[in-house]
Amino acid sequence: MAETLIIYYSSTGYNQKVANSIAKKLDADLFEVKPVKPYDKDMWAAWDIAQAERKSGQLPELQTNVPDMSQYQRIIFGGPAWGYTISNPLQAFLKQADFAGNPVYPWVTFYDHDEQYLTDLKQQLNNGQVKDLLELTMGVLNDDQSLNSAIDHWLEKIK
Ligand SMILES: Cc1cc2nc3c(=O)[nH]c(=O)nc-3n(C[C@H](O)[C@H](O)[C@H](O)COP(=O)(O)O)c2cc1C
Repeated sequence: MAETLIIYYSSTGYNQKVANSIAKKLDADLFEVKPVKPYDKDMWAAWDIAQAERKSGQLPELQTNVPDMSQYQRIIFGGPAWGYTISNPLQAFLKQADFAGNPVYPWVTFYDHDEQYLTDLKQQLNNGQVKDLLELTMGVLNDDQSLNSAIDHWLEKIK
């Protein structure tokens, strides 16, 4: 069994690409968080829904159960910034998840604003130690060489 579990959510594929790349480099297990109802691929349409969910306090229902994290030595946790913070599907996941005392290494993908991501993650994550955040902007995500070296640099720091 792998030592590292990568948990991620991706709506339009960027985080999936990051998760797959890290999984390959570390020989890690992958766990994709999936909402029952996928969000619109159009950012603003998705934002309307996400905002309404936040206002009503109703986070999305997930297709997936929470994995048993006590089997792992560390967790890598990645997803997009939505409204400066954690995406709704990952917020729903965090409500249910027990990180079993593991160190948790987060990454986030975004255009230009993720200001509340790390603070909120520290507040919402249950029973894990949240480490430094790897921030990946669209410029980096759209350039395979930059993305690869950002990931390698981060993995070198956290190993
Ligand atoms: C509902 C929604 C809200 C978003 N809010 C932000 C934001 O506050 N700041 C930002 O820089 N990007 C924002 N974005 C852009 C996403 O961060 C970007 O689409 C995401 O990182 C792409 O990852 P994915 O392909 O794995 O879904 C938002 C996107 C969506 C769909």
